Amino acid sequence: MPAAPTLTTGRTTVLSPRLAALLDDHLGKDAFRLEPDTMGVAGHELTDRILAARRATETERPTFKPLHGRSISRPEASSVTQTVGRDVRKALTHPIPAGADLSGPWPLTGHMLLRDMVLGGDPGRLKMLMSRNLELTPILTWTVIAAGAALPLRIPATSAASNLAELTAQAGSYQDRRYAMGIYRRAAAPVCFTVSTLVANALWLGAPFDDEASNRNIVLESLRLLPPSWNILRRASPEYPEIDPRIGPADDVLVLPLLSHRDPALWEDPNEFRPERWDELDPDHTPGYLPFGHVSERCWGRHMVMPLAELLLDRLRTDGLTVDPDQRRAKVPLLGLLGVEEVRVTRARKAL
Ligand code: HEM
Repeated sequence: MPAAPTLTTGRTTVLSPRLAALLDDHLGKDAFRLEPDTMGVAGHELTDRILAARRATETERPTFKPLHGRSISRPEASSVTQTVGRDVRKALTHPIPAGADLSGPWPLTGHMLLRDMVLGGDPGRLKMLMSRNLELTPILTWTVIAAGAALPLRIPATSAASNLAELTAQAGSYQDRRYAMGIYRRAAAPVCFTVSTLVANALWLGAPFDDEASNRNIVLESLRLLPPSWNILRRASPEYPEIDPRIGPADDVLVLPLLSHRDPALWEDPNEFRPERWDELDPDHTPGYLPFGHVSERCWGRHMVMPLAELLLDRLRTDGLTVDPDQRRAKVPLLGLLGVEEVRVTRARKAL
């Protein structure tokens, strides 16, 4: 069932039935059974205790879970994150080219722009790994990787390739190249896919924005209402029944920022897009707000995500771009990454 249109924009966000049912059935509850072997958790105190109880295991980690059965060590994950971080910082020192047209379907348009900004100088074989079509199936991704890894990657010293591409090119054997290309995609995908989804969500929820609203507050508010990481999974663990006896020893726990971000006990007008609420709130210490995970181990990439998203928003606003007024509805499908399926972005019509 579609949600009611947002008061400020008159647009309707149509959540997939499963997401809508989660909100309808469990909003405001702290713990509830979702499946015979899975407990949902959305209360902020319980969330805090669950996520603080232990670190995510390697299979629970979102970005660097094992790649085709091969573990990714923490030092390696850290070094890859730092490498892509250097590429993002470099991209942030250059303005978005004056001629770039940010109108069109989002998140696709933002995705292509970010790919070109951060990885534009990379060999085609690597850039191809950032195709959105590869999201459709992991088998397709792995096939493209396997084909691309057939020949060694050579990056000329004079090329404008990213640091991430240079790291990938260090792999010697075919097996190592396949793995390195998988890592390339793992590290680059959140920069391109996720950031463009985040900005598309912000446009859909709030554009055209008030001139006074800061880009930072717009991003924080968009992360609240449509958190790309809308659930955080923890497999059954002996710590959890000790924290709350409703959680059985064999129960997995699904922590749901989607719900805590709209809990009426925590937020005033929880369903309204109000960037100005962040004037008074500290996003790192706001109960129940965890778009980048828990304080005990927050997302390592958040310091690249925020400035990139703010940069894109800034340019969209400067160019007078907004959501096509003829688009009244957008779907939010049930995917690992929560976001609007497509937002049509056009130049704002001038008032007569
Ligand atoms: C909008 C973009 C992003 C969102 C919403 C996001 C969200 C999150 C969340 C919720 C967690 C905690 C997961 C848990 O506790 O199980 C996390 C962890 C993490 N994130 Fe992000 N993230 C984003 C972008 C990135 C980027 C660009 C990178 C780096 C390339 C990155 C690297 C990591 C790493 C290394 C961790 C620690 C656990 C792991 O190895 O996966 N993230 N992120």
